[in-house]
Amino acid sequence: MNDPELYSKANPFQVRDATQILGVYKKRMSPDDADIVLDIGCGTGDVTNGILGPSLGRFELLLGVDKSRDMVEYAQQHYENDSVFFEVLDIAGDVTDFRDEWGTFSKVFSFYCLHWVKNLKKALTNIQSLMKNGGETLLVFVAQCPVFEMHERMAENERWKSYMEDVNDFVPMTQHLAQPSFVFSQIMEEVGISPINCSTMNRTFAFTSTKMLRDCMVAVNPFINRIPLQQRNEFIEDCIKTLSAIKIESGNLNENEACCFSYKLLVAHGAKN
Ligand SMILES: C[S@@+](CC[C@H](N)C(=O)[O-])C[C@H]1O[C@@H](n2cnc3c(N)ncnc32)[C@H](O)[C@@H]1O
Repeated sequence: MNDPELYSKANPFQVRDATQILGVYKKRMSPDDADIVLDIGCGTGDVTNGILGPSLGRFELLLGVDKSRDMVEYAQQHYENDSVFFEVLDIAGDVTDFRDEWGTFSKVFSFYCLHWVKNLKKALTNIQSLMKNGGETLLVFVAQCPVFEMHERMAENERWKSYMEDVNDFVPMTQHLAQPSFVFSQIMEEVGISPINCSTMNRTFAFTSTKMLRDCMVAVNPFINRIPLQQRNEFIEDCIKTLSAIKIESGNLNENEACCFSYKLLVAHGAKN
């Protein structure tokens, strides 16, 4: 997930989901010319600059942050301009210095990032502290997905388990919850963000080829760089086979849907009063 070049070519469902969700929420969030906007987990910056920025229309400043220095450097080189900037920030870490430097934000967004954050309460506490009073937030992440189950199964495989001992750090706490949106909205309330809407959406994405599926799996696989180079192809093949087995067991597969993929997104819109 730290390879910006690869991620920028293999993120079609992330781009589609951000576009569609912003299409709905921009009307509800009343953008303002004076908005100071934060995008958490901006990755390569293509969604920040190419989708979030245009959907807001006018704004004072748009800042993308990511904990990966490689991603931030890529975003700075490709997308920085007079009103769009990128910085390194771990949203689950200490944000005091960042807040002292940048202040608070009238709108805080995050797309496809919070499923990587184990301590959601800490991340939401930080998000609340970075919001202006009266500010709004829109948080979108993968709550449940067969890819996380694939990681859990691969971590039990004798061949790969030694590379995946910390697998639980890469499975979001929402993966095994019966009602992820209920639990997430409770955490929002606990940290001082009033939920306006918090729900899960069932999503499906049809990959146009097995190569595209493979590229997307590799682009977001947190273990791949630990696997010795000469075994990487077999690891990827095993990932794809395991994912297919999960789909077959769940009855979520027919011949025409070999490259179809279903998951649940959590979409949370909240305000700080
Ligand atoms: C899948 S990418 C999403 C990029 C972009 N938002 C999009 O929608 O395409 C997830 C990004 O979240 C970042 N990330 C993961 N944990 C983070 C954290 N604790 N704080 C900030 N960024 C984080 C990763 O480095 C990665 O670049």
